[in-house]
Amino acid sequence: MERRVLIVGEAAGPEENVRAVLQRFGFSDPDKAATLGEALGMLRLDHYDLFIVPLQVMDVVQMAALDREMRKGQATFMIGTAPVADPDLILRAMRAGVHEFVLFPPNPEEFASAVDRLMRRMQSEVQRGKIFGVYSGKGGLGCTTIAVNLADGFARNHTTARVAIADLVVAGGDVRVLLNLKPAYHMGDLVPKLERLDTDLLRSLLTPTSRGVWALPGPDDPEYDNKLDGNVVGNILEHLRHDFAFTVLDCEHHLSERTLTALDAVDRILLITELTVPALRSTKRALALCGRLGYPDEKMCVVVNRYQSGEVLSLADAGEVLKHEIFWKIPNDYKGAASAMAKGVPVAEHETDSKLAASYKQLAAKLGGGSSGRNSLENGAGGTGAGRLSRLFGMKKRG
Ligand SMILES: Nc1ncnc2c1ncn2[C@@H]1O[C@H](COP(=O)(O)OP(=O)(O)OP(=O)(O)O)[C@@H](O)[C@H]1O
Ligand SMILES: [Mg+2]
Repeated sequence: MERRVLIVGEAAGPEENVRAVLQRFGFSDPDKAATLGEALGMLRLDHYDLFIVPLQVMDVVQMAALDREMRKGQATFMIGTAPVADPDLILRAMRAGVHEFVLFPPNPEEFASAVDRLMRRMQSEVQRGKIFGVYSGKGGLGCTTIAVNLADGFARNHTTARVAIADLVVAGGDVRVLLNLKPAYHMGDLVPKLERLDTDLLRSLLTPTSRGVWALPGPDDPEYDNKLDGNVVGNILEHLRHDFAFTVLDCEHHLSERTLTALDAVDRILLITELTVPALRSTKRALALCGRLGYPDEKMCVVVNRYQSGEVLSLADAGEVLKHEIFWKIPNDYKGAASAMAKGVPVAEHETDSKLAASYKQLAAKLGGGSSGRNSLENGAGGTGAGRLSRLFGMKKRG
C-alpha cells in the first residue's frame, strides 16, 4: 500500500524535488492544502503517514491547533520547515509534535535523510511485538496450559505472524512437556550469547513447533536460577519483542527479580485464577501487589480458568471480591486439557472443535485482534457463595 503525504503550501520546496524523494520512499502523489487551517480540516477526515508544514508562518494559536490535531494521531509523522533554524521556533515546533526540522527551501539530500529517519522509525515501531505474561500467585491453576494454548491461538489467528512461547521457570518448567519438545537449547543457553544476539542467532536457539510457534524452554538445571537475573531476562525479552509479533511468557509463581522484570516488561499480564476461595485470595493479593507496582488496571487481565456454570462461587462473586473486571473465562475440560498434554500438543491440535480450543482462540483474538473475538462472559449477579465470601474477604454484600 502506498504511503500518503499532506503538504501545506510550499513547505516542502519545489514540486519536482519533493515528488522524486517521496516516490523513493513509497509515497503516492502528495495531497496539498493552501493553508494550515485547510490541512487540519483534511486531517480530521483522513489519516496521513507524513505531514509537512511551514513553521515560519505559524503563530502561537496555530501551533496549539497543530498540537491538538497531532495528538489525535491522524498524521504519523510531521516535518516542519523554516528559512532560519531559530532554536525557539524549533523547540515550539517539537512541542507541537514536529518530528524533524528541515531548512527551507529543503535541499533534496537533507529532505531525503529526514524522511529516511522517520521511515526507519516507523519500521521499528511497527516491529515492536506484544508480550503477554501468564501469571498466578499459586501453583496448579493452569498457567502453563494457558500460555501454550494462547501462543497456539495467536498463531492460528495470525498465520503470517511470528509467535514465541518462552518458559521463565527455572528447573521444572513444563512448556517443554506440554509441547513434547526435545530442545537443542534452553533460555539459559542465551546468557553467554547475549552480547552478540541478533535475529539469526535468536532463531537458531529457539525450537520450532508444528503450528509456527517458536519455543524457548526453561533450563532444567537449577544453577541457572542466579544466572537468569532481572537484567538478563529483560534483555532477552527485548530481543523477543523485536523478533516476534506475539510472545507469551509462562511466569514463575514465585516473585523473584526475574518474575518482576518480566511482569514490568510485558504489555498485558494474564492473571490466572479459579472460582475457589484459595485461588481468589491469591489473585486478590497479586492484584494488590500489581497496584503497588504501579501497573495500570488495563494491564491486568483476570482470567478465570476451569469455569463451569453452577459452581458455588459465580463470576459476579469473583468480580466483586477482586474489585476487577473478569477479562475472560476458560471452560473446565479436564479430559481435553489432559489428553492434549499427554500427546504433547496444543488443545486445538488434539480437538479442534472443542469449546476449550475455541476459548483459547477467542482469548488470543481479544488480546491480539484478528478472527472473531467474541467475549462470552456472562455476568449473572448474586450467587450462592456471596454470604460466605463476604465473611472471608470482609466485604459488605451489595443490597
Ligand atoms: N481449562 C481446564 N480445564 C480442566 N483442567 C485444566 C484446564 N486448564 C488446565 N487444566 C489442568 O490443570 C492442571 C494444572 O495446569 P498447569 O500445569 O497448566 O498449571 P500451572 O499453573 O502451570 O501449574 P504449576 O504450578 O505446576 O506451574 C493440569 O493437569 C491441566 O491439565
Ligand atoms: Mg506451570
